[in-house]
Amino acid sequence: MRILTLSGSLRARSTNGSLLRAARTLTEADGTAVTTADIGGLPHFNPDLDGEGAVAPAPVAALRKSVAEADAVLVVSPEYAHGVPGVLKNALDWLVSSGEFIDRRVGVITASPSPTGGDYANAQLRETLRMMTGTVVDESCLTVGTISAKLDRDTGEIADPELTAQLKTALQALTPNPTTTTA
Ligand SMILES: Cc1cc2nc3c(=O)[nH]c(=O)nc-3n(C[C@H](O)[C@H](O)[C@H](O)COP(=O)(O)O)c2cc1C
Repeated sequence: MRILTLSGSLRARSTNGSLLRAARTLTEADGTAVTTADIGGLPHFNPDLDGEGAVAPAPVAALRKSVAEADAVLVVSPEYAHGVPGVLKNALDWLVSSGEFIDRRVGVITASPSPTGGDYANAQLRETLRMMTGTVVDESCLTVGTISAKLDRDTGEIADPELTAQLKTALQALTPNPTTTTA
C-alpha cells in the first residue's frame, strides 16, 4: 500500500508534521509506504502553464505522478485565518483538471493549538476534494484540537494515547484492505 501525504505546513517543527511522522510509524509494520509530496516548490497555479499545448512544470508533473501512483492520499494541515494554507490550496489547484484525484481515497486531518482543531479548513478541504471527485473517507477525517498539549514537548511525538488510537483508526479506514497498524 502506498499513502501519499500532502502537508499544509512548511514549518520545520510543524505539529501537523508530527502527525505525519506518527502515521509513518503506525503503518510501518504493514509494509505501507507513507511518503510526503514536496509541494513547497510548486509554482503558483496558472492555467496558462497547463492548458492545451503547454507542458506542465516539472514539479507539477512529479506531484501528479505521485498522486496517480498512490493507493490513497492523506491531507494533513493547519488552518490559517479560518482557511486552507495557500501552499496546500495551490497544490490542489494544480490537480483539479489533471484528474489524478478521481475516485482516489482521501482523508483530511487538521490540527491546531486551538480546541476547534482547524474545523473551517477541514470542511473546506473536504468540499474541495469532493469537487475534485476524490473519494473522501469520512472515517479518515479528523480535527485535532489542542495539539500542542498532545505532543511531547522535546521530541514532538504524540504523547496522547487517544490521539494515537484516532490516527490509527483513520489510517485503517483509508487503506482499502484492513491493516494491522502497530500500537
Ligand atoms: C498566519 C496564521 C494564521 C492562523 N490562523 C489560525 C486559524 O484560523 N485557526 C487556528 O486554529 N489556528 C490558526 N493559526 C495557528 C496555527 O494553527 C498554529 O500556528 C499551528 O501550530 C500551525 O500548524 P503547524 O504547527 O503544523 O505549522 C494560525 C497561524 C498563523 C501563522
